[in-house]
Amino acid sequence: MNVEVFTLFPEWFGWFTTQRHVANVLAGGSRLECVNFREHTPLSGGQVDDTPFGGGAGMVLRVDVLDSAIRAHYGVDPERLRLERRVIALAPGGRLLDDRLVDELAAEPALTLLCGRYEGFDERILEHFASDVVSIGRYVLSGGELAAMVLCDAVFRKLPGALGHDESAAEESFTAALEGHPEYPHYTRPSEFRGWSVPEVLLSGHHGRIEQWRRERSRERGSR
Ligand code: 6GU
Repeated sequence: MNVEVFTLFPEWFGWFTTQRHVANVLAGGSRLECVNFREHTPLSGGQVDDTPFGGGAGMVLRVDVLDSAIRAHYGVDPERLRLERRVIALAPGGRLLDDRLVDELAAEPALTLLCGRYEGFDERILEHFASDVVSIGRYVLSGGELAAMVLCDAVFRKLPGALGHDESAAEESFTAALEGHPEYPHYTRPSEFRGWSVPEVLLSGHHGRIEQWRRERSRERGSR
């Protein structure tokens, strides 16, 4: 998968790519590239934002700046680009990121992520350049970068080779294998600590009963 992130803070993604599962995916041929759209602004002094029409606090990311950056990077009109690949603007009011959307995005050959700052995007960016607007929760971050990393983290761990060979993303929390429920509880040694013992069934070696116990616990957690 090829991912391009349009951001004013490309250096923030440095530590992100050192995470093991992200590094594994990149070593396997996927790419994560950051484009600093300040470098492509047609305005003087590296300007990328402006005051909102109608007044109010904060600054708004300009549509002409994103237009220039996307054209410079892809050599196509941004209105065309979104017909060719998912172009995802990260904004607090967007579609909530969940396992279903993560699966959907993990099946794409390429993603473009647009990170806003300040009060957000000029609405015309969302209307005409983005194919999707995605949010990671109902709270406001200072910009889209952390949300872009959350999205990439979740998407990358679904890709082949991301996890070690004895790990699997197939039966994690919220997957179809667990009927969309959270994962069942895990335990490891010691089997008893300060009088807190591990459920007997997990020590039984009876795979059928263990399987059944895990499904039940997962379902229970889903309804709390
Ligand atoms: Cl995607 N962006 C910003 N700025 N804040 C958020 C968010 C995104 N998701 C939740 N809060």
